[in-house]
Amino acid sequence: MTKDYIWWKDASVYQIWPASYKDSNGDGVGDIPGIISTLNYVKSLGTDVIWLSPMYDSPQDDMGYDISNYEKVYPKYGTLEDMDNLIEGTHKRGMKLILDLVINHTSTEHDWFKQSRSSKTDPKRDWYIWKPARYDAEGNRHPPNNWVSHFSGSAWAYDETTDEYYLHLFAESQPDLNWENEETRKAIYKSALSFWFEKGIDGFRIDTAGMYSKVQSFSDAPIVFPDSEWQPCQKYFQNGPRIHEFHKEMFASVTSKYDAMTVGEVGHSPREDSLKYVSAKEKEMNMMFLFDAVEVGSNPSDRFIYDGYKLTDFKKAVQNQSSFIEGTDAWSTVFYENHDQPRSITRFGNDSNKYRVKSGKLLALLQSTLSGTLYIYQGQEIGMTNLPRSWSIDEYLDINTINYYKEFKAKYGDNKEKMDKLMDNINLLARDHARSPVQWDDTENAGFSTGKPWMRVNDNYKEINVASQVNDPNSLFSFWKQSLKIRKEYKDLLIYGSFKILDNENQKIFTYVKEAAGQKAYIVLNFTSESLKFENLDGGKLELLHSNVNVEDEGTLSPYEGRFYLIK
Ligand code: GLC
Ligand code: CA
Repeated sequence: MTKDYIWWKDASVYQIWPASYKDSNGDGVGDIPGIISTLNYVKSLGTDVIWLSPMYDSPQDDMGYDISNYEKVYPKYGTLEDMDNLIEGTHKRGMKLILDLVINHTSTEHDWFKQSRSSKTDPKRDWYIWKPARYDAEGNRHPPNNWVSHFSGSAWAYDETTDEYYLHLFAESQPDLNWENEETRKAIYKSALSFWFEKGIDGFRIDTAGMYSKVQSFSDAPIVFPDSEWQPCQKYFQNGPRIHEFHKEMFASVTSKYDAMTVGEVGHSPREDSLKYVSAKEKEMNMMFLFDAVEVGSNPSDRFIYDGYKLTDFKKAVQNQSSFIEGTDAWSTVFYENHDQPRSITRFGNDSNKYRVKSGKLLALLQSTLSGTLYIYQGQEIGMTNLPRSWSIDEYLDINTINYYKEFKAKYGDNKEKMDKLMDNINLLARDHARSPVQWDDTENAGFSTGKPWMRVNDNYKEINVASQVNDPNSLFSFWKQSLKIRKEYKDLLIYGSFKILDNENQKIFTYVKEAAGQKAYIVLNFTSESLKFENLDGGKLELLHSNVNVEDEGTLSPYEGRFYLIK
């Protein structure tokens, strides 16, 4: 691997999901002035880039991932002027700002779609994907094929105006843009990218970056779920035939003109396919998110079909992501949370009072010692947890959860066992867990808002909040801060170094070695609530550098204990 330091490789990124971050005016919804008021806090953690989830104008059916105007700000979040101030405030502190680029689809409220749906001969008709209905022998109307939407039901919606269906891989109000049309692509580049680059932003997180190119036959997908009318159709849109041509075009015509950071959300993709996006010589994007680690244990076509995971599977996913950069000119990412994932302490650690902080530190130790660009999601740095199991489905607001629950209930509503199991899985895996308001202090509404928050605040805000942690040297926040600092001090080893697991078969302990020219680190993490015997699997002389406990008994790993040694 050639080691060329680049700012976006060294960066620790802090993701802000605006609705739940910080409300400045008491309307119960987070906003841009709220973000600006916390920039010193974000800086103090030691992060250098902010990734801001969509703040564009939107009906908010999918919390801003349904955009009605790329060049306007959602009024509840603020104005274009607020965005200028955010860009300036970020830069003034030596940080960078990247935005979310949502260009696989728009909202049905976007002018482009309004025109497209107005008539079959409208000049923008072909900007979206329209197909005629299919009729069965009895003359009943059906969608053009059997593809399922990510948010349940058919991926096609019928539109009376022109008696045709449009494709929506996500919600019905998120029609897919037709990337086959060159004029559409140019309009996307101009409105969604250039507009914001010219305002001074530093790059993009590219939403659903592997989905723009659909296999044009639009044929029926093979039946995977026999009890459902609609079937997974990834192979018709994921890494599709023209996807790399599109990314190369976007890079060449816009992104390459700026010193930009780009990170694509690609989801599930084998190593060879993934490298085509992120290998530097391909000139498409800098790095990508793969879901192998965060979705371990779930069916890749259905996150709520979940059988539990083994630490060994998790290790494999970490290995895959880490060794991605070895022997290649590609770059990698490290993340265990974002706005689509549950809270990592609940998922991979232990959110009981006894082990919450300690297992949070264990995960910080893991994440801060892995190779690639590191991402932290709002609230992760203070150890926010999933929503309580006692909350009913009514507290869940995400369209993904709600649609799934409704469809499941219609099918299995009288099967208590199935319904309970679904609620367990929702309680573990739903996107809602990342979306409750950030817990700033122990005052009413956790200091998020002086009004009624749009989403209920987690009950545990008095125990878990920013104010109680920033000045406490033993807090999770302080541990993250220290870990990010060490990450920078040892960047050759931690950010750029190679990665090797020493105990692939061990279901309880995770041990790995990081290596760079002349330096070696040994990291050992106890992922259980048991005390376990510590063994030096390397044989070299170990010198403790960082740990989530005061190591008193070297020979024993206490529950959730983690240690970071240098090998001398
Ligand atoms: C991405 C986003 C997710 C959104 C979807 C549709 O996966 O991260 O939040 O629902 O794309 O835009
Ligand atoms: Ca507000």
